[in-house]
Amino acid sequence: MKIFIDDGSTAIKMAWQQDGKMQTLVSQNSFKPEWSTPFGNQTPANYLIDGERYSFDPVSPEAIRTTNTRYQYSDLNVVAIHHALLQTGITPQPVDVEVTLPLGEYLDEHNQPNMLNIERKKRNVMRPVVLNNAETFTIRSVRVLPESIPAGFDVVKDLDELDSLLIVDLGGTTLDVSQVRGKFTGITKTFCDPDIGVSLITEALKTALDAANTRASSLFANDLIHHRNDPAYLRSRVNDTAQVATILATLREKELQLCRRVQRTIEQFSGYSHVMVIGGGADIILEAVCEATAMPQERVFRTTNPQLDLVTGLYQMGTPE
Ligand SMILES: Nc1ncnc2c1ncn2[C@@H]1O[C@H](COP(=O)(O)OP(=O)(O)OP(=O)(O)O)[C@@H](O)[C@H]1O
Ligand SMILES: [Mg+2]
Repeated sequence: MKIFIDDGSTAIKMAWQQDGKMQTLVSQNSFKPEWSTPFGNQTPANYLIDGERYSFDPVSPEAIRTTNTRYQYSDLNVVAIHHALLQTGITPQPVDVEVTLPLGEYLDEHNQPNMLNIERKKRNVMRPVVLNNAETFTIRSVRVLPESIPAGFDVVKDLDELDSLLIVDLGGTTLDVSQVRGKFTGITKTFCDPDIGVSLITEALKTALDAANTRASSLFANDLIHHRNDPAYLRSRVNDTAQVATILATLREKELQLCRRVQRTIEQFSGYSHVMVIGGGADIILEAVCEATAMPQERVFRTTNPQLDLVTGLYQMGTPE
């Protein structure tokens, strides 16, 4: 069985085929070192890899930071993939997977596939993981693809060869931008900034929450980011409500900073005829991207679930019609 995986630093996105239809899943990365205690008939998601113990915990402020490039080759990356596989409802079995690397890792300084990194990633994902008291999947083969580019598959295949699509992918940790020529005739330019991501907001928000007597996990903070335009929701989540205004101001300030940084990156690109905004952070930067690119609205693509665009693209490229 083939599973397409966009194993981002904050969330794993999966796509696979079932009864001829594409199924998808988003699984958050929130793991702590050591195992969780079972309670009632709930079996905790406790994992073992190379003698190290990890467990899934959506609320622990001790959740290990995955928002860095090292994560791509780490224990947690493999554990997160297995945890996501186990959420699919598919019976544990040997599977063939396609995973992704950020452009900055996938390409070398001459814009060629960085075979060292690609092999390193493959070796990492192939490592067996043990799920305590239950069976997990066996990863039989791994193919590594670059981030952002496959997301444009559906649009690029129909573009004229002289047109090009600018794909802007804002994830939790990285900003990947690529300019792909129509009919996939080539890649004009790519850029990856491993320090521009939604985590810029997440980290500042966690500090502001701390000052409001609310110690938060990244997952908790990210949930507030999704509801950033809903002050009532924020008030219900924060322990010291007197701090809500300060928290909202922090959110706004960081959002603007993030948008400015994305715009500055986009300024390095030119000659594109269409734009696509993808990744979990797509909505945060959409307006800023439209402003920076000055594209007519009908040439700007934003799907209903931009976080899934990359994995959907992988699926479309790898699944025969
Ligand atoms: N609806 C939303 N509104 C605002 N932010 C969102 C929304 N959905 C997801 N996010 C944020 O997007 C981030 C995750 O996006 P995504 O899944 O694209 O990242 P990733 O692929 O794991 O990261 P990277 O590509 O940098 O490794 C999280 O920080 C999350 O809070
Ligand atoms: Mg991503």
